[in-house]
Amino acid sequence: MDIRIYGDESRLNGDAADIVGEALRGGPASAIGLCTGMTPVGLYRELVRRRAKGEISFADATVCNLDEYIGLTPDDPNGFRAFMRKRLLDEVDLPPERFFIPDGSAPDPEDECRRFDAVLDGIGRRRLQVVGIGGNGHVGFNEPDDSLPYGTRVVRLSDRTVQTNAAYFDPPDRIPRRAITMGIGSILDADRLLLIALGKEKAEAVAGALAGPITARLPGSLLRLHPRLTVLLDREAASLLPERLKADAGLARAIRPRIEDGFDETSRQ
Ligand code: PGA
Repeated sequence: MDIRIYGDESRLNGDAADIVGEALRGGPASAIGLCTGMTPVGLYRELVRRRAKGEISFADATVCNLDEYIGLTPDDPNGFRAFMRKRLLDEVDLPPERFFIPDGSAPDPEDECRRFDAVLDGIGRRRLQVVGIGGNGHVGFNEPDDSLPYGTRVVRLSDRTVQTNAAYFDPPDRIPRRAITMGIGSILDADRLLLIALGKEKAEAVAGALAGPITARLPGSLLRLHPRLTVLLDREAASLLPERLKADAGLARAIRPRIEDGFDETSRQ
């Protein structure tokens, strides 16, 4: 696990955009899994800026998103499809047919889950998956539970999630109580994971996820099972981490420029 803690959010977003940019250069077979919410807004702004300058291109990319509310039409401005279009997709060169997100308006949500699983199977494991974390530790809409199924599924949102997300809904009481989410197994299937968390409201979930027991009761903790997890935190989100993890993050920062300069073990041969 590579944890990086930032005092400056624009540097955090720049590093996140570097990681996405690296995945975009991975060729036509590589995919990017993206997420919605306030957390990735700065990253998407940076990706749009880099695209406008011609530094990156989505022309060969495939993008798949984590989740969608059930019961909204695909063009509902409150939906995650609309969010992705507004914040990123309308501003970059991704061919529209290569954007995949569960369809919350499908007549049979269970069938839609199987369709989305088939999409993920088709994409395969060469995928960078970007995720945020909820204040209750959820990832995508995988809410805390006794156990978490592997694949895409219909979920009932927790009261806390409904309350938090209603603030972004217009009108707030229209927020659906159910959603379709990529399963935690499919999230872990990606060959690289990027977790971003910002703000003190995330500090407890982040500390639990990165330093507490690995448990479905805190879905973010399951991300630690992944061999290639990068975590980008602002200082507030990192504030409750145990000192040893903060020290690891500081050490990694000290070493990283040397690795980037080519002084790592592999380049010495
Ligand atoms: P947020 O949501 O980015 O709006 O904080 C993240 C999440 O709930 O997963």
